[in-house]
Amino acid sequence: MATARGQFSSKIGFILAAAGSAVGLGNLVAFPVMASKNGGAAFLIIYLLFVAFICYPVMLAEIAMGRRSKRNPVGAFGMISGGQRRWRLTGLLAIITPFMIAVLYSVITVWLVVYLKELAGGGLERLAVEGTFNEIVAAPSLFGYALLLLTGVFLILAGGVKGGIERLARVLMPTLAVMLVALTAFVLTLDGATAGIAYYLVPDFGKMTLATVNGALSQAFFSLSLGMGILITYGSYFSRQDSIPSSARMVALMDTSIAFFAGLLILPAIFAFDPNTNTDDLSTSSVGLIFSFLPKIFLSMQATVGYLGATVVAIAFFMLVFFAALTSLVSIIEIPIAYFIDEFKLSRKRAVCLQAALLALFTIPATMSFGMADALTQFSHYGGVDKSFFDLIYDLFYETILPLVGFTVCLFAAYRWKMSGLSAELVIGDDRYQGSLLQRYMNFALGTVIPAVLFAVFVSTVLHIYF
Ligand code: PHE
Repeated sequence: MATARGQFSSKIGFILAAAGSAVGLGNLVAFPVMASKNGGAAFLIIYLLFVAFICYPVMLAEIAMGRRSKRNPVGAFGMISGGQRRWRLTGLLAIITPFMIAVLYSVITVWLVVYLKELAGGGLERLAVEGTFNEIVAAPSLFGYALLLLTGVFLILAGGVKGGIERLARVLMPTLAVMLVALTAFVLTLDGATAGIAYYLVPDFGKMTLATVNGALSQAFFSLSLGMGILITYGSYFSRQDSIPSSARMVALMDTSIAFFAGLLILPAIFAFDPNTNTDDLSTSSVGLIFSFLPKIFLSMQATVGYLGATVVAIAFFMLVFFAALTSLVSIIEIPIAYFIDEFKLSRKRAVCLQAALLALFTIPATMSFGMADALTQFSHYGGVDKSFFDLIYDLFYETILPLVGFTVCLFAAYRWKMSGLSAELVIGDDRYQGSLLQRYMNFALGTVIPAVLFAVFVSTVLHIYF
């Protein structure tokens, strides 16, 4: 039975949904930390160059593949290659990767739910105490919250592309932008905030190393939700009347602006808390920063705005992060669903149920990787350290396979589909693409410089993590 394929209602619907996917924990947390450690504006400049010259072309290729084939990643690689098995297998990697990353994202988003509930009950003080985070992530009550969250997510997904995904993004993305601007404006009025701004915006090229440059590229790649089949799938819901290049540009612009503003929020907040902040002390893990460090900062604001005021600010911040995480979560969980619908001809409802069962199967042990079960907390050992089940998925999929999928997308578009095929798709809905500077750049770089850079990142990550 061929079910009618979902579609976004308009260009802006696509842009908001894709930006909803792109804007996530990466923007609000990882980006500010990376920028502060790696030379502030110097990092920002490198990051922008990567977004424009490496990531943007890959975005165009992914969206075009999706729109051309009107399929999920496996179907897209399969159809455009004329059914070649090895390309279908490559596409499968772009289903498994988002599936596994969805597991990680679910675990972290559940923590956000617990934090919000704790804050609503007046527990800011408790969250600011050292050790509370470790207690929370090891509490069996997490499963109850997980059930609540995932039921909500799957109900949204059962609503389909227009009624579920797009509608969620239409409400949450503008809310998120307003909250971010309001919070930033508030933090900038605090004493000591200017030191944070200076730290963030004065370039220090002395801090740039090869690792920084590497990190900037991976960050840009993840932040734009590339290499996960997300843009292929969302591209398959994109209308042929609209321009891919201009929509992708809007998504990249929104994603990057939100990352930039998040830096303008978090660094001044940290410096207002302690003017002598040594940024080397900021936790290396972004997760540690938001869950352990930021509650202390919010609590310190009670001197100026009282406990209630500080709680309100903390709730606003965690809501912001929660909304960002929710729209990203919905986008990754949708990929396998699209695959089940296209390739196995399941109804959306059945595909959603199947995906819910599979996701639960992996999310349960991943949730138990933080002290609840020793066998999962010390699941394996490599690179000289103990790794949990969660760490293993993170290293394998997030850090390693992601750039590899990006690399295969470039090779596929440039050599199997061929630049002429890609160009023909990009011209649809955008006459100006033909003969443009962008087209010439794509023709030159998509099969050469861009995959070479992605491959280099892949190799250096593998060496770094596993050896
Ligand atoms: N782009 C998201 C972020 O910046 C990360 C993400 C990863 C989103 C995987 C969806 C899927 O946090």
